[in-house]
Amino acid sequence: MAKAAPVSALGLAFFVTLSSFVFLSLGQEKLGRHCSENPPTLNPNYGFGFVKDIGGLKAYVSGHSKRGILLVSDIFGYEAPHLRDIADRVALAGFHAVVPDFFYGDPYKQNTSRTIEEWSKNHGTDKGFKDAKKVTAALRKEGIHAVGAAGFCWGGKVVAQLASTNFTKATVLLHPSRVTLDDIKAVKVPISILAAELDNGTPPELLKQFDEALTGNKIENRIKIFPKVQHGWTVRYNDSDATAVKAAIEAHIDMFIWLSKYLRWHF
Ligand SMILES: *[C@@H]1O[C@H](CO)[C@@H](O)[C@H](O)[C@H]1NC(C)=O
Ligand SMILES: *[C@@H]1O[C@H](CO)[C@@H](O)[C@H](O)[C@H]1NC(C)=O
Ligand SMILES: *[C@@H]1O[C@H](CO)[C@@H](O)[C@H](O)[C@H]1NC(C)=O
Repeated sequence: MAKAAPVSALGLAFFVTLSSFVFLSLGQEKLGRHCSENPPTLNPNYGFGFVKDIGGLKAYVSGHSKRGILLVSDIFGYEAPHLRDIADRVALAGFHAVVPDFFYGDPYKQNTSRTIEEWSKNHGTDKGFKDAKKVTAALRKEGIHAVGAAGFCWGGKVVAQLASTNFTKATVLLHPSRVTLDDIKAVKVPISILAAELDNGTPPELLKQFDEALTGNKIENRIKIFPKVQHGWTVRYNDSDATAVKAAIEAHIDMFIWLSKYLRWHF
């Protein structure tokens, strides 16, 4: 089978070009308030891809490749337009992007009588972890053997747990919530953590401990703290705010580069 290098280089170029286009076209913790700020306007029909069943879950799928990227959402779920944008760009860059509906049609909704704690009781990250394993196993059956994962907020905890198994080749945590030092000590695959400077849930002091644990365990890792941004900035950004969009896109590109490095040679 042909080697993938030219595809990766071309893919990256696509991704970067598209991202600049998007930019230029502008005019241990509980899940806290910061996890629900700037909620997206959900849209089940958004994106270039389509929804299908994978391993018993509905999932938004974009692209066609033997190299998969599993995107695990925040509490607002898989119909969030910004998350599907990321999936579509990853797909254009030559990957099979999958965004499962881990909440079975019941994402967190603001301004209802149900608090975030009550919602969390039915939507624990442990269940998400089990479901994520089902999805990656189903992808393997479809011939997609190399899967990288990226998790946002709630999903950061899920992909951290997944990283303690051999279900994924590499992982990226974007402003993760509730990820503990023990989770990080159990990680076995290359991991990148993209964190906000302003994040009470995963503050820089905790990230320093993560760094020491990973480096001590000789796990390839990269922890990057984005200055002046808040928890949630990579998916719940304001489209009209050029600085916010730029910081989000930078994180998306970092995520993509990290995953593509480890998915490159697997078929
Ligand atoms: C939800 O409630 C907050 C404050 O309680 C308010 O600022 C916001 O506009 C409300 N959002 C919607 C969609 O009603
Ligand atoms: C993961 O590890 C289990 C147990 O060691 C093994 O049975 C399985 O084949 C491995 N899967 C992959 C994809 O390497
Ligand atoms: C989004 O950014 C624009 C431009 O900076 C600003 O006018 C608007 O108030 C922001 N919207 C929100 C919801 O913060």
